[in-house]
Amino acid sequence: MIGYQFMGKAHSHAYRDIPFFFDEGCEPIQQAIAGRNEEAVKEAAGALGYNSYETDWRTLIERDDIDLVDIVTPNNTHTEMAIAALKAGKHVLCEKPLALSLLDAERMLEVAEKSNTIHMISHNYRYAPAVQYAKKLIDEGRLGKIFHVRAQYLQDFIMDPSFPLVWRLKKEVTGSGALGDIGAHIIDLSRFLVGEMKEVNGMLETFVKQRPIGEMSGGLSASVDSEEMGEVTVDDAAIFMSRFENGALGTFEATRFAAGNRNANRFEINGEKGSIRWDLENMNNLEVFFTDDEEGLQGFRTINCTEEVHPYIRAYWPAGHIIGYEHTFLNMISELMKGIKNGYSPKPNFEDGAKNQAVLEAVQQSNETGGWVNVAQLREQARRKLIHS
Ligand SMILES: NC(=O)c1ccc[n+]([C@@H]2O[C@H](COP(=O)([O-])OP(=O)(O)OC[C@H]3O[C@@H](n4cnc5c(N)ncnc54)[C@H](O)[C@@H]3O)[C@@H](O)[C@H]2O)c1
Repeated sequence: MIGYQFMGKAHSHAYRDIPFFFDEGCEPIQQAIAGRNEEAVKEAAGALGYNSYETDWRTLIERDDIDLVDIVTPNNTHTEMAIAALKAGKHVLCEKPLALSLLDAERMLEVAEKSNTIHMISHNYRYAPAVQYAKKLIDEGRLGKIFHVRAQYLQDFIMDPSFPLVWRLKKEVTGSGALGDIGAHIIDLSRFLVGEMKEVNGMLETFVKQRPIGEMSGGLSASVDSEEMGEVTVDDAAIFMSRFENGALGTFEATRFAAGNRNANRFEINGEKGSIRWDLENMNNLEVFFTDDEEGLQGFRTINCTEEVHPYIRAYWPAGHIIGYEHTFLNMISELMKGIKNGYSPKPNFEDGAKNQAVLEAVQQSNETGGWVNVAQLREQARRKLIHS
């Protein structure tokens, strides 16, 4: 593992728990963790359960006793680390978004496809059992033709203007703001559930333009380091519309300025035969509505997706014994273990990462031009640039 804060803890917890709940014939061994500060990384190795530590990620990647490299560092490091790891013959799990730009994401995909290794991007929300079950219902045609996707990812943790200028607010480190940080998740969920987006039209806004200098200090908390102010160079909020290749229409909202919404990752999908709703803050439940339900009894019903028939639940507890946020990582990493054992890159992999990045870049471009941007054409342009670079 490279990095050891918020996602470092979430992924490490999953590695520790995988052998307890899953038996995929491939068990993770937490062999080593890398960080830049010796004292801090030594402490993290102990707290998160790693057998050793390195103070240079390159040394970690070169080690013969490492098979899988998990990248849980800020976005500007993903491309260099992932490409180095893939070239060294290691499997890679990389946090989202894949890169700072579509060109870098395509470069990572190209190296991943040429390497004989397994790659995956950490869009963990796909792996909530209720989301997997929604996917099953859609694939079975229970909603019929899909008309609408309405997705939101709403947070409020940076609303206070004295919240510091952390890496998440600096373009050169993060690429984009709410768009890439949380919008990327609802893009992934809608790609997973409904399909590819053909074109997008969006707008970005930065409400607080200057903040005191500071750093993330675990989870979504931060500490102010000085009275000096710096410029916020990414969006605080992103809103966009999309047309899907299958004709569905999408509306998306990603913001960190929605007071009272701590982590409201939610979607509603409307089809010709019914609708589905999901909200992370109530993640075990799926609300469904079917137009062919008996007249008089029609209405949204709430399915608690904790029965044995619901994906991944057999690994855990009896019906009604709910699971939580951390289990999305367990389920996702159990798929990674299966992929490593059986020689395929589970979804979402670097191809999904590149397709996601194309949507992010299309929204950014649309914000600048004020018009619709075709997502596939943007990918095509990036790939052509890659061939000529
Ligand atoms: N899947 C999710 O739901 C989810 C949630 C939060 C963050 N993320 C993603 O995870 C990644 C990390 O985010 P986080 O919230 O854990 O950040 P964080 O600030 O909590 O932790 C970042 C870690 O990376 C280390 N680091 C920074 N630069 C480094 C470098 N050059 N070399 C080595 N280590 C370095 C830091 O010391 C720290 O340990 C980001 O890409 C972010 O977008 C994903």
